Amino acid sequence: MKGAVAIAALAATTSASPYFSKRQANEAACKRLPLVDSKALQDSIKPEALLKGAQALQDFAYAHPERNRLFGGAGHNDTVNYLVEELEALDGYYKVEKQEWHSLAQVNGTASLLINGTDYNPNVMEYSPSGNVTAPIVVVNNLGCNSSDYPSTVRGNIALISRGTCEFGLKSVLAGQAGAAGAIVYNNAAGSLNGTLGPPRPQGPYIPTVFIAGENGTALRTALTGGASLIGDLDTWSLIENRTTYNVLATSNCGALNTTLMLGAHTDSVAEGPGINDDGSGTIGILEVAKQLAKYKVNNAVRFGFWSGEEAGLLGSTYYVNNLSPAELANVRAYLNFDMIASPNYIYAIYDGDGSSFNLTGPPGSAEIEEFFEKWFAGAGQNFTATEFSGRSDYQAFIDNGIPAGGTFTGAEEIKTPEDAGKFGGTAGIATDPNYHQAGDTVDNLNRTAFELNAKAIAAAVAEYATTFDGLPPKSLQKRRVSLWEKARRRVPKKGMKGSL
Ligand SMILES: *[C@@H]1O[C@H](CO)[C@@H](O)[C@H](O)[C@H]1NC(C)=O
Ligand SMILES: *[C@@H]1O[C@H](CO)[C@@H](O)[C@H](O)[C@H]1NC(C)=O
Ligand SMILES: *[C@@H]1O[C@H](CO)[C@@H](O)[C@H](O)[C@H]1NC(C)=O
Ligand SMILES: *[C@@H]1O[C@H](CO)[C@@H](O)[C@H](O)[C@H]1NC(C)=O
Ligand SMILES: *[C@@H]1O[C@H](CO)[C@@H](O)[C@H](O)[C@H]1NC(C)=O
Ligand SMILES: *[C@@H]1O[C@H](CO)[C@@H](O)[C@H](O)[C@H]1NC(C)=O
Ligand SMILES: *[C@@H]1O[C@H](CO)[C@@H](O)[C@H](O)[C@H]1NC(C)=O
Ligand SMILES: *[C@@H]1O[C@H](CO)[C@@H](O)[C@H](O)[C@H]1NC(C)=O
Ligand SMILES: *[C@@H]1O[C@H](CO)[C@@H](O)[C@H](O)[C@H]1NC(C)=O
Ligand SMILES: *[C@@H]1O[C@H](CO)[C@@H](O)[C@H](O)[C@H]1NC(C)=O
Ligand SMILES: *[C@@H]1O[C@H](CO)[C@@H](O)[C@H](O)[C@H]1NC(C)=O
Ligand SMILES: *[C@@H]1O[C@H](CO)[C@@H](O)[C@H](O)[C@H]1NC(C)=O
Ligand SMILES: [Zn+2]
Repeated sequence: MKGAVAIAALAATTSASPYFSKRQANEAACKRLPLVDSKALQDSIKPEALLKGAQALQDFAYAHPERNRLFGGAGHNDTVNYLVEELEALDGYYKVEKQEWHSLAQVNGTASLLINGTDYNPNVMEYSPSGNVTAPIVVVNNLGCNSSDYPSTVRGNIALISRGTCEFGLKSVLAGQAGAAGAIVYNNAAGSLNGTLGPPRPQGPYIPTVFIAGENGTALRTALTGGASLIGDLDTWSLIENRTTYNVLATSNCGALNTTLMLGAHTDSVAEGPGINDDGSGTIGILEVAKQLAKYKVNNAVRFGFWSGEEAGLLGSTYYVNNLSPAELANVRAYLNFDMIASPNYIYAIYDGDGSSFNLTGPPGSAEIEEFFEKWFAGAGQNFTATEFSGRSDYQAFIDNGIPAGGTFTGAEEIKTPEDAGKFGGTAGIATDPNYHQAGDTVDNLNRTAFELNAKAIAAAVAEYATTFDGLPPKSLQKRRVSLWEKARRRVPKKGMKGSL
């Protein structure tokens, strides 16, 4: 198999290179194909093929003891190899590349915390080191965001710190610098959450750190400031690996590269399960469209991006965009994202490109892409709704660089409203995907109706924009200015995502 190809090398491609002559030969071959036809492309999307692809991904997860497709692990490697094979089998219609990158990954972890024998049900912070500490608990002043908040008595002991203002990672580093052997961060609201310290930071190393519920933390603080003495037995276990992984990119060998349509879906899952709706559905949805498109000529080049490391923080798509030259970035005319398109209790949601629902507008052209999908769902006799550009999927690096974006989404952990149950059927009062980020995210729990309809919507959008971008206003290459308001909103951790603050 072909080794890793650095995408940046494309920038240096000259007209004398083998790639260019291969492309010219392919252009000639393309001319003999019929121009892509929207109805024909949509009709070629078959539910059996979608389910077969989803089953293949699930089999990759279940072929290994961890039963997931966490990026760079065995089940994910199999996914990447499968995509390359499927795309390379299309008679050279696509130039297929594996883009290699590396990142630390929290592969597994657990924690326990007994305080004077009572269990506090902690969650281990992602990226916490492993360690066992038995020592007195010492209250940290204020919010633990300044080294002066740490009393000298934390040395050798366990620091008790409130959530708030600064990142969990900074609190862990500052506690360590003050000599603490472990840290407990407690919520500043009721309940608990799963948090992340974030990848290692330049300020210094982390110490074993866990998170506990707000009620429990304030009770401990009250007892300690009242003079009680409490002994904590804190154990953390984290398996952190430096993983090598790949984005897979498939670019049609015909169509104008300076007006490339890009599509993306992520190939990795969380550790808890095989990730078949999230995002096996998007992966297979765009793969199936890529396969069917190979029968047609296109005016604009089409590039499919299969991103790794989305669940660890949009790592693959961000790496890809950050490594594009300005000229390559300018060639990307629009980006379409598909992350979860077969949710069991689905809604038909379209990214809110015009900002009319969530007050967060995509780059110029995003409104028109939203409108394209709205018309398509209306034409299919279906209701639709909007979903926010919330920074929760791989469109983020594209919209941050002024590339118009859009796409569809059928729902994750959000509770279905009675209004949406009226519009889409299903069950109000439960999540749109009750298996989100869990072991139950399997082929059996996909909604096939939603899967097929969304895959056809992808086909329709590809047929449209592979033919013409006339419906979009001129592209502005301005980096988006991100308002403080948007930044603040992005920092609010959402259920199922590991918040860092
Ligand atoms: C995490 O580790 C536990 C204990 O070793 C193991 O039972 C579990 O299967 C692991 N989970 C994953 C996703 O690897
Ligand atoms: C996955 O692929 C990477 C990169 O080739 C390799 O380093 C790693 O060992 C593979 N992991 C497994 C579990 O096969
Ligand atoms: C913590 O203690 C457990 C036994 O309670 C042991 O298996 C583990 O290796 C210890 N971890 C560290 C990092 O010392
Ligand atoms: C930390 O506290 C010290 C002393 O109270 C103060 O001078 C300093 O500005 C604070 N640093 C930050 C980052 O808030
Ligand atoms: C934290 O993650 C664990 C393991 O996936 C899960 O069981 C638990 O419900 C999560 N807790 C919260 C508060 O999200
Ligand atoms: C933690 O708080 C919850 C909710 O108030 C409570 O049910 C639980 O008993 C507390 N745990 C401890 C160890 O105090
Ligand atoms: C916790 O245990 C320690 C050591 O046994 C003891 O000195 C302390 O009084 C206990 N604290 C409470 C509140 O029971
Ligand atoms: C991970 O491995 C890669 C390749 O071996 C290396 O370049 C990188 O520095 C490593 N990262 C860390 C955080 O160790
Ligand atoms: C793309 O390249 C073609 C041929 O070189 C040129 O005619 C066209 O104006 C270019 N389009 C854009 C958007 O740059
Ligand atoms: C809409 O967003 C802007 C910033 O982009 C903000 O100033 C304004 O308050 C927001 N409006 C509403 C109604 O939230
Ligand atoms: C669209 O929503 C309305 C209620 O808002 C509902 O009456 C209608 O049946 C829905 N249409 C479809 C095709 O589900
Ligand atoms: C998909 O959802 C529709 C509408 O809620 C429902 O009628 C159908 O039974 C579901 N199909 C599957 C396979 O879950
Ligand atoms: Zn996802």
